[in-house]
Amino acid sequence: MDHYQIIKNLHVTCVVLSISGFVLRGVWVLRGSPWTGHRLTRVLPHFVDTTLLASAVTLLYLSSYRPTGSDWLTFKLLGVLLYIVLGVVALRAGRTQRQQASAFIAALLVFTYVVGVALTGQRWPLG
Ligand code: HEM
Repeated sequence: MDHYQIIKNLHVTCVVLSISGFVLRGVWVLRGSPWTGHRLTRVLPHFVDTTLLASAVTLLYLSSYRPTGSDWLTFKLLGVLLYIVLGVVALRAGRTQRQQASAFIAALLVFTYVVGVALTGQRWPLG
């Protein structure tokens, strides 16, 4: 296995860990579970998400992929930014439970879109 493939595997592993942790935290927040305040719950996601972003940057460095402003990578990046904003509203900034739940569902939809873009290399995976 070459370096690129190893980093890509790390990237995809972090994707799975990141979304699993997000779903778990989202459910805990909506249920008002005490687990939301646990130290591990607050620290682990930073570790996973930093590794996810670091692997993304390394893949860019090792490949010739560059966001051009209109390609799949640009749309993926915009999707990731939107996912982060929605995630912050769902887990922290949302004022009502309804707002948090809507942001949580929207974040999951945007995440699915990002995975679709990554797997197909298309801006609109179903289009
Ligand atoms: C929520 C965040 C992200 C998700 C869900 C995600 C998902 C994925 C998935 C599933 C793959 C594997 C595609 C395949 O097997 O062909 C992949 C590859 C890749 N991702 Fe991400 N990614 C995320 C963030 C990022 C970011 C922020 C960047 C860059 C700025 C990035 C750049 C790449 C690159 C360059 C590849 C390799 C593409 C290839 O070799 O065909 N990813 N990503």
